[in-house]
Amino acid sequence: MKNSDSNSNIVWHEGKITYEDRCKNLEQKGIVVWFTGLSGSGKSTIAVEVERELIKTGKAVYRLDGDNIRHGLNSDLGFSEEDRNENIRRIAEVAALMKDAGLITLASFISPFQEMRKFACKKAGEENFIEVYVKADVETCAQRDPKGLYDKAKQGEIDNFTGISSPYEEPKNPELVIDTTKLSIQESVQKVLAEINDLV
Ligand code: PPS
Repeated sequence: MKNSDSNSNIVWHEGKITYEDRCKNLEQKGIVVWFTGLSGSGKSTIAVEVERELIKTGKAVYRLDGDNIRHGLNSDLGFSEEDRNENIRRIAEVAALMKDAGLITLASFISPFQEMRKFACKKAGEENFIEVYVKADVETCAQRDPKGLYDKAKQGEIDNFTGISSPYEEPKNPELVIDTTKLSIQESVQKVLAEINDLV
């Protein structure tokens, strides 16, 4: 940055089209559906199916996923607490912009810290935000281990692995808890769709 005072030279430029105008054109409400949970809990699997079902009914949807975003926008970030917070800060901003564009935005991130999930909710607006806790205990996730990451973490090959060597703060008051140790993928998807359809 050339000038530490540069922010004081930046002025918000108001447009003539509002969030409501964009939603009216799309005939839906822009919202953020935030999936949080351990690696292997089922966040991405459920979000992929929810996206597919919503598209079938003509909704405008976009999905943001931890692994994918870390290939591009957030490829400079690792898994320290500081980097995870920056990861979620950027995603919360992106998700809020997508919501503002009128999209049903599905965000699947471990997002282990309550404070950053609260930030994401505040950015989107509480009335436009659904927090979905995709719940599965660490033993179950480690047994599923679809990417072999729990194995590596237990052997000390991955630092700061959530649930093993890095904390996960459970959501205190999520709109929805999806216990994937008890529900099938299809049952989980139906529950999320019902919650979304109530809001949009
Ligand atoms: S976070 O905590 O919200 O910033 O994480 P996120 O951006 O969702 O990225 C999680 C995916 O990164 C892979 N991975 C790790 N996860 C947890 N801890 C460590 N140390 C780690 N290293 C790599 C893993 O594939 C996660 O994907 P999911 O879909 O959650 O399994």
